[in-house]
Amino acid sequence: MAHLVRIGLLGFGTVGQAVASLVRPFGVTQFEVTKALVRDLDRPRPMPLPLTTRPQDILDDPSIDVVVEVIGGREPARTWIAQALSRGKAVVTANKEVMAYHGPDLLALAQQHNTFLGYEASVGGGIPVLDALRYHLTTANVKTVAGVLNGTSNYLLWAMSRGQEYQEALREAQRLGYAESDPRADVEGLDAARKLVLLVFLAFGRWLDVDRLPVRGIAPWPPELWTRLQRQDLVLRLVALARETPDHEIEAQVSPVLLPTRHPWSQLEGAQNGIFVDTSAGSFWLEGPGAGGLATATSIWADIRRSLARPQPEPVRPLHPTIAVPATLPTLAISRDPDRTLSETRYHLLPTDPSMGYCLRPFEPEDGVEYFPVWDGGFASASTE
Ligand SMILES: NC(=O)c1ccc[n+]([C@@H]2O[C@H](COP(=O)([O-])OP(=O)(O)OC[C@H]3O[C@@H](n4cnc5c(N)ncnc54)[C@H](OP(=O)(O)O)[C@@H]3O)[C@@H](O)[C@H]2O)c1
Repeated sequence: MAHLVRIGLLGFGTVGQAVASLVRPFGVTQFEVTKALVRDLDRPRPMPLPLTTRPQDILDDPSIDVVVEVIGGREPARTWIAQALSRGKAVVTANKEVMAYHGPDLLALAQQHNTFLGYEASVGGGIPVLDALRYHLTTANVKTVAGVLNGTSNYLLWAMSRGQEYQEALREAQRLGYAESDPRADVEGLDAARKLVLLVFLAFGRWLDVDRLPVRGIAPWPPELWTRLQRQDLVLRLVALARETPDHEIEAQVSPVLLPTRHPWSQLEGAQNGIFVDTSAGSFWLEGPGAGGLATATSIWADIRRSLARPQPEPVRPLHPTIAVPATLPTLAISRDPDRTLSETRYHLLPTDPSMGYCLRPFEPEDGVEYFPVWDGGFASASTE
């Protein structure tokens, strides 16, 4: 018997429009995008759809079965997702920020109302990595999950290594649509940290405190550094990494990491993301579009279809966030002076304000020397001189 599922969109921008463009039947189920919430009714839209500026037109509409949240940010997204779940609607979101900060409460609410909250699109855009961790690798013991998860920083590191100046590369990234007008969350590593919280939850069942994750972003490093790295066959990528220690602590951090040029992540361009999962059943590599309307909407549709089966909501424990300890990676000290050899050192972490966790910094930093951790898991590790 044919069945019609009605979808309400909160947001009709890049991702919302792509979701609306991908309406397809699924077996006997037909879908209809009924209406979309926007801020500005006068803005030209590429396709016709009833629009509203009142969230209640979607949240209080009993004919809407699934609410897709693609406005971004923490509020009012959290409030609207909570209202939709409380009314028994399934919710699908692409919003890593709201999930990283409010995931436990929202998942508990979904459980309480026996409904579904899907967030596949919030990590890795079109790469089905959360489903892989949630459904496929459940019998494998995950040891490490790591990835290049942010397109903006990836583009900037790639462009700077080819001699482009930081600000010029940033303007180009904004023109190409990789970088937002306010790129701080991307270049400071916060976007990758939010995604890491979600990966860790599905890999290790723990919810990290996102504000206390050791995070170091990228910087406008000078041309000499890039020349130096090139000579050593090394590439810099912003890597989010988490692993469980034998004592069941979670080591986690986001920071620029040195990789050999032949490492798969060194080849990633633009918004391509790469994710590595090391488990008791072997290692898995996933690579694909980490952003872009169609790729992200593909993950949203996977969740919409999954919501039809009303799968068991995820148990969230503990409700109190876990504080990660920084990973102990080998570190290379790289001098801009080409006559000095690279030296290997340990990764030094200085606690800052205790309430803020750690700050990744070397002890006694030397002028003209940059310190970078070196990838030491999977594929091949970078070699020193
Ligand atoms: N773009 C990507 O490649 C990508 C990839 C993965 C995940 N995501 C996530 O997907 C979400 C949406 O991203 P996007 O790129 O589609 O953003 P976007 O192009 O800026 O679209 C946002 C939409 O939400 C509407 N909106 C925002 N705040 C609103 C408010 N307070 N009330 C009513 N409407 C509001 C905007 O309305 P107006 O059109 O009237 O301004 C717009 O239609 C974000 O969480 C983002 O992190 C995006």
